[in-house]
Amino acid sequence: MKKILLDAYGIPEQVARCAEVADLPAPGPGQVLFEVLAFPINPADVWFCHGHYRLRPPLPATPGAECVGRVVAVGEGVSRVAPGDLVINLQRENWAQQRLVGENDVVRISPDLPIAQAAMLRINPPTALLMLSDLVDLQPGDWVMQNVANSAVGRWVIKLAKARGLRTLNVVRRESLFDELHSLGADACLVDGPELQQAAAAAVSGAPIRLALDAVAGQATARLAECVVDNGVVCSYGSMTGEDPVMPRAALIYRGVRLEGFMLGRFLASRTPAQIEQVYAQLAQVLLRGELQAPVAQVYSIEQIADALRHAQQGERGGKILVAPNGPFA
Ligand SMILES: NC(=O)c1ccc[n+]([C@@H]2O[C@H](COP(=O)([O-])OP(=O)(O)OC[C@H]3O[C@@H](n4cnc5c(N)ncnc54)[C@H](OP(=O)(O)O)[C@@H]3O)[C@@H](O)[C@H]2O)c1
Repeated sequence: MKKILLDAYGIPEQVARCAEVADLPAPGPGQVLFEVLAFPINPADVWFCHGHYRLRPPLPATPGAECVGRVVAVGEGVSRVAPGDLVINLQRENWAQQRLVGENDVVRISPDLPIAQAAMLRINPPTALLMLSDLVDLQPGDWVMQNVANSAVGRWVIKLAKARGLRTLNVVRRESLFDELHSLGADACLVDGPELQQAAAAAVSGAPIRLALDAVAGQATARLAECVVDNGVVCSYGSMTGEDPVMPRAALIYRGVRLEGFMLGRFLASRTPAQIEQVYAQLAQVLLRGELQAPVAQVYSIEQIADALRHAQQGERGGKILVAPNGPFA
């Protein structure tokens, strides 16, 4: 079977290669064998290839934080999934044609989910959901502010916030995105910049912003901190600049603004397997109702991994880059 291997950490399109490796064995007791139908290239995967992600396994390493697959065979004692089922994998190393994992590592999802959307279900949608539920006790009518609002996470934040009666103030890098974000349900949109505080106050008519979500870091974090109300929360969950978040002392010390970090794994870890299944079932319903289609810029074959990685690192992309390791999917 084919699998992506990194022989070194470095520039992703230079260090990732599509290798021919031995086929996987038949599943043993409690194991599930599935073929990978699609995986996205997320910013964290790019960091992983660089060797700058929190996980830096010994080489050769295989990236891939998420995927969707179809079960091929199950081992003795497996009862939660059966051959033919569509599954997402809670384990990593998914940039391959097949995966062999434990029964509890996979979550069965509806066979009616579009494959492309299912491939992007595991990480970004629950990140948006749990940041809106676990950090601040938000009430209908409250404002939530976020940067990278046109990202996959950002779009889910807009949609899920709307469903809860929350209002979103969305910060992006170009005005041409405003119409699209408004049509998703964004209540207000702004372009990031030095005047963000004044523009944000005007956009929400002076209403308090109790939560701001930051995936840019550096000075962008400081700009969000200036927009939130006293004792509000700025949540740092990513760094598209590669910088650490900057928090102004005045916000921290005088106004009691808190900087909190979010990592999906930490927040899922406090939930039972049944609660985790419930989280994914809730998010799958949004997709099944057709309320959100995370945009896809292009789908590549596994042999085209270098091109796919190059494309995934381009700014102003029209959506996610997906890879279909076993050929085109319906
Ligand atoms: N902590 C967690 O558990 C967790 C989970 C999921 C995701 N994340 C993080 O969430 C963020 C978004 O992920 P995603 O998969 O949703 O992203 P995505 O769909 O790939 O979109 C990337 C976004 O980043 C913006 N961007 C790129 N470079 C930038 C820069 N230098 N300054 C400002 N904005 C920049 C892009 O804006 P343009 O369109 O203008 O290029 C786009 O909005 C990432 O940082 C990711 O690591 C964290």
